[in-house]
Amino acid sequence: MKAVLCKEFGPPEKLVIEDVPSPEPKEGEVVLDVHAAAVNFPDVLIIQNLYQFKPPLPFSPGGEVSGQVAKVGAGVKNVKVGDRVIGSCGWNGFREELAIEEARVQPIPDEMDYVTASAFLMTYGTSHHALKDRAQIKPGETLVVLGAAGGVGLAAVELGKAMGAKVIAGASSEDKVQVAKDHGADDGFVYPSGPLSKDQQKELSETIKKLTGGQGADVLYDPVGGDYAEPALRAMNWDGRYLVVGFAAGDIPKVPLNLALLKGCQIVGVFWGAFTGRERARHEENLRELMDLFKAGKVKPHVSKTYKLEEAAEALNEMAGRKVKGKVVLKVR
Ligand SMILES: NC(=O)c1ccc[n+]([C@@H]2O[C@H](COP(=O)([O-])OP(=O)(O)OC[C@H]3O[C@@H](n4cnc5c(N)ncnc54)[C@H](OP(=O)(O)O)[C@@H]3O)[C@@H](O)[C@H]2O)c1
Repeated sequence: MKAVLCKEFGPPEKLVIEDVPSPEPKEGEVVLDVHAAAVNFPDVLIIQNLYQFKPPLPFSPGGEVSGQVAKVGAGVKNVKVGDRVIGSCGWNGFREELAIEEARVQPIPDEMDYVTASAFLMTYGTSHHALKDRAQIKPGETLVVLGAAGGVGLAAVELGKAMGAKVIAGASSEDKVQVAKDHGADDGFVYPSGPLSKDQQKELSETIKKLTGGQGADVLYDPVGGDYAEPALRAMNWDGRYLVVGFAAGDIPKVPLNLALLKGCQIVGVFWGAFTGRERARHEENLRELMDLFKAGKVKPHVSKTYKLEEAAEALNEMAGRKVKGKVVLKVR
């Protein structure tokens, strides 16, 4: 079977495609025939040894897949051959067959195709946990989303609307803001691509304040970081929640903590991967809620492009180059 392999850390061009032996399931594992593998920002980081998880070489990037169960190992209780599942593997997803622990797979509802299923869990799981558990967002509150046409950003736009918030989308181009509006954002703004000058940072704060009726954001969803974080924090409302989701701009911002004091706001960390392991029961309840929202037509990943397995490097470069709208997915079979 074919696998995209990272044999040395570096940019996507360093990845190779090779034939590797088909896996056999160990105790508690299943083997999936992978149908689709979503591309997420952590895949760009993990191949450069810049992510918090550092698998030993060689490995395949690809944190989440969808597929059909082909083999089950000893002791597997809840999954059988033929089941359609989403697999949250962390890495090793960009390959035709994948061995994965039973606990890391979820059934796919009949209404969901494989491409959509592969693109669903990480982005919607993260944004749902962020808005519901971490921000405890309330209907009528104003949610400002940065990187609003990206994977987790667009999920936050849809979920914010589904939770009754007024959603304001920020992104680096008119096209991207339009994608967010097409997915329910009430308003939007374009910010510069960065790095931002002091004047541009001031303008960003003022834009957010203006679009929130002078109040500032009740909840600010930030998967971008870099030069955007401090001006966004300066545009928080009293009692607001600033969600630290990611650092797609590259730099981890260092913000003046007096801003949290002056605004009476909270700076709240979001780590969905850790939450799924540490708070299993709440995670499973969230999954049920997300699948219900999908079945009710309230949320649906925007897959703007699909690629073949052999085109993995191209797909990763699109993401690293800030070009993706919504999600891109590798169609593996
Ligand atoms: N905390 C968690 O539990 C969790 C879970 C999943 C992902 N994440 C993190 O969330 C971030 C976004 O992930 P994603 O999968 O949604 O990625 P994505 O689809 O690529 O979206 C990221 C967005 O960031 C913006 N951006 C700003 N500067 C960028 C740059 N230099 N390169 C690329 N994008 C840039 C882009 O929007 P504009 O061009 O409009 O600015 C882009 O749409 C990543 O840092 C990821 O590691 C965190």
